[in-house]
Amino acid sequence: MFKFDFGIEDDGVELAQSESSSPKLEIQSEPFTDLPLSQLLESLPPLISYSPLSIPLSSSRKNATLARRDLFDARFQLISDGGGDEPPAPTSALGFLDAPSDLIPGVYEGGLKTWECSLDLVDYLAGLEDSRSSYFSGKRIFEVGCGTGIPSVYILHRLFCGDPNAGSHVHLQDYNASVLELITFPNIILAWYMSPASAEYRASAPEECPPADPSVPGELPITPDLKGAFTASLATHGISLAFSSGSWDSLINHLDAKSDIVVTSETIYRTEALPALIALLRKACTDTQPHCLVAAKVLYFGVGGGVSEFVRALESKTMLEKGCAGKAESVWERKVGVGRKIMRIEWV
Ligand SMILES: C[S@@+](CC[C@H](N)C(=O)[O-])C[C@H]1O[C@@H](n2cnc3c(N)ncnc32)[C@H](O)[C@@H]1O
Repeated sequence: MFKFDFGIEDDGVELAQSESSSPKLEIQSEPFTDLPLSQLLESLPPLISYSPLSIPLSSSRKNATLARRDLFDARFQLISDGGGDEPPAPTSALGFLDAPSDLIPGVYEGGLKTWECSLDLVDYLAGLEDSRSSYFSGKRIFEVGCGTGIPSVYILHRLFCGDPNAGSHVHLQDYNASVLELITFPNIILAWYMSPASAEYRASAPEECPPADPSVPGELPITPDLKGAFTASLATHGISLAFSSGSWDSLINHLDAKSDIVVTSETIYRTEALPALIALLRKACTDTQPHCLVAAKVLYFGVGGGVSEFVRALESKTMLEKGCAGKAESVWERKVGVGRKIMRIEWV
């Protein structure tokens, strides 16, 4: 059985060990699917539990704390929805949650857990904001391979804390629709709830509302009123959201809009997937050299991917012929332990 074993602690610190043994699974890759906001609102359970995720920042702010849905709570939701009577199929969401491996290539790509480099991206993004407050306001943002979506959740938290009517758009993509439903979208609801944008709702239903403090674990009842208040806040703040699942290959034909900020974290571990990822990043970027940020481990042991392989693919003749070649500049680096980098891509 093919197994990566990327071990990740629940607080988001990855231990980064991997090994590959037997042949790859022959699997049809997930097709592109657009997930409307209404569907994601509908899929929310009546209660979500969450815990703080503290992100150290190297800029002037000490750290950022976000509320993140507990993984055990997502598992509980799946069991309550009727998925727990029999041993879960390995390709089901419950199967991913119970799997000894954190990643099953072509089936489940690791999005239920928070990977370390996504926190590095938050650090870098916070630094951009320091140079100009409300940096994200009015921008189109696209997170590729979002998983728990921590960089986008941080951006949305900042947007909900800012002035209304800014006209921002955030698109989140993950391979697995179940990841978007179970974790990414609940995290966005929590980002809104923990911000001043939910103040009116909290005042209207004090008996149902836990403290809007992301540093304290809690449980948030998801009521029709909360859903209505969230949707109204999006409109007031001029924020639109888009969600899509499926492989990068399948998404590229459906991506029409260009983004000002394109981010991706821990998505370059498999060299075979790099051409599709690079082509997607190129297509998503405006021609005015936006922030296209790739956060990654320098090396993914046993899988072959890493920063050098990514740069090689980015600068390759094949990518040049496809009009997708670029140069990667390192804009953030951590050399302790398994090295980590954020690269800013300039298209050539
Ligand atoms: C290791 S997870 C990282 C998740 C998240 N960015 C983080 O850092 O916490 C890799 C992510 O890349 C995405 N991914 C990997 N291969 C993909 C592919 N071929 N097509 C679409 N998405 C893919 C999955 O959605 C998955 O969430």
